[in-house]
Amino acid sequence: MDWTHLLNLEFPQLPLDAADEAILKELAHKLQDNYPYHSPDYAGQMIKPPLPLAQAAHWMTSFVNPNNHALDGGRATSALELETIAAFGRMVGFSKPLGHLTSGGTTANLEALWVARQSNANTIILANEHAHYTHSRMSEVLGMPFQTIRSTENGSMDSTALSVALENLQSQGVKATIVVTLGTTGMGAVDPLEDIIPLARAYDARIHVDAAYGGYFTLANLPKDVQRHFTAIAEADSIVIDPHKHGLQPYGCGAVLFKNPEEGRFYKHDSPYTYFTSDQLHLGEITLECSRAGAAAAALWATQQKFPYVRSGNFAQRLNSSLAAAQGLKNTLMAKGWWVLEPQLDICIFSLPGLKASEISAKNRAFFEQKAEENIHLALFSLPQQNCPWQMEWDVPSITVVRSVLMKPEHNDRALWERIARS
Ligand SMILES: Cc1ncc(COP(=O)(O)O)c(C=O)c1O
Repeated sequence: MDWTHLLNLEFPQLPLDAADEAILKELAHKLQDNYPYHSPDYAGQMIKPPLPLAQAAHWMTSFVNPNNHALDGGRATSALELETIAAFGRMVGFSKPLGHLTSGGTTANLEALWVARQSNANTIILANEHAHYTHSRMSEVLGMPFQTIRSTENGSMDSTALSVALENLQSQGVKATIVVTLGTTGMGAVDPLEDIIPLARAYDARIHVDAAYGGYFTLANLPKDVQRHFTAIAEADSIVIDPHKHGLQPYGCGAVLFKNPEEGRFYKHDSPYTYFTSDQLHLGEITLECSRAGAAAAALWATQQKFPYVRSGNFAQRLNSSLAAAQGLKNTLMAKGWWVLEPQLDICIFSLPGLKASEISAKNRAFFEQKAEENIHLALFSLPQQNCPWQMEWDVPSITVVRSVLMKPEHNDRALWERIARS
């Protein structure tokens, strides 16, 4: 089979028989059981519809079905993947990045922590108590000790607590790998990377940036005191960004980058089955996973052609819309007497006011359910007392608050904020 029909944007006729069609119909029925993810009325979890171009590129490439493990299985898409990584490198300020795509943020973070361990067997992972839950789980997988660092009231890592932890570790002769989250999953809080860098230097610690959710905001118009932590990414050792979150990709697309390309040596392995078609780099030589979909690289590459990663471009404007949406929702809620946290990125956390933590939680849960009945889909979050600026009687250690991730440019809409805020 050749692929010349794709040159006319003609996708091959799939040889489906009646039995196949019946199965597909059954599948289509089952797929009805979903939330309306593509609608602006879905403003709950971090779910963003992929760009149609990305879907088309993914679908087109699936006919070839390349495997980016080795050039043996995916010559064209391996080259595209390297281009996508170079684009990320330019975006974050890594001049010669070593990196690749992954199935998602968890695997990408796993690799970054694994490289940290390979570079120093006696290293402990330090992370914000609000860091993504998979960090502690992946530390267990890797057999690495893991310690959380207290957060400040706004949910970002407390750099004073970090410095105390680093001092203690130094006295025990232990080196640290600091996981700095630029955009926590729950609150969208930004760890103070620029302030952490001098601490890491002083204690010879490694820095891994988990920007699975927030990484693309590097391109957006953030307030200066937040922007500086994104600018500082260039000083970190590694970073994870998920194109399947803010990068308009179908699921199955994360990315990990290392600043020092020599860290590729940790991956060194022999594969008696592959790597014989070319002396050039096979991506499998610098990945923990073996097979990976070349279609994911093709879709991301196509998206980057349409939306280059530049601060003044259309892609950055879409991110600015998300930031504006979070501010707009905050202002609308506040005008109606809601309690609202200051959004750092595009996640808005809010609560009905009240006197007692357990009662407020129950009211917020009821509000969340009432909205779902109105077909407006939000999320909930368990906010610990220490991150809560509102006065109340604390009969339970945390309150359930309402959480909304405003990832779509269409969320920048006053009518939607009014509908959300109406209780
Ligand atoms: C900050 C952060 N890190 C890691 C992850 C895990 O990424 P994935 O779900 O792609 O495995 C997430 C997911 O929400 C996240 O927000």
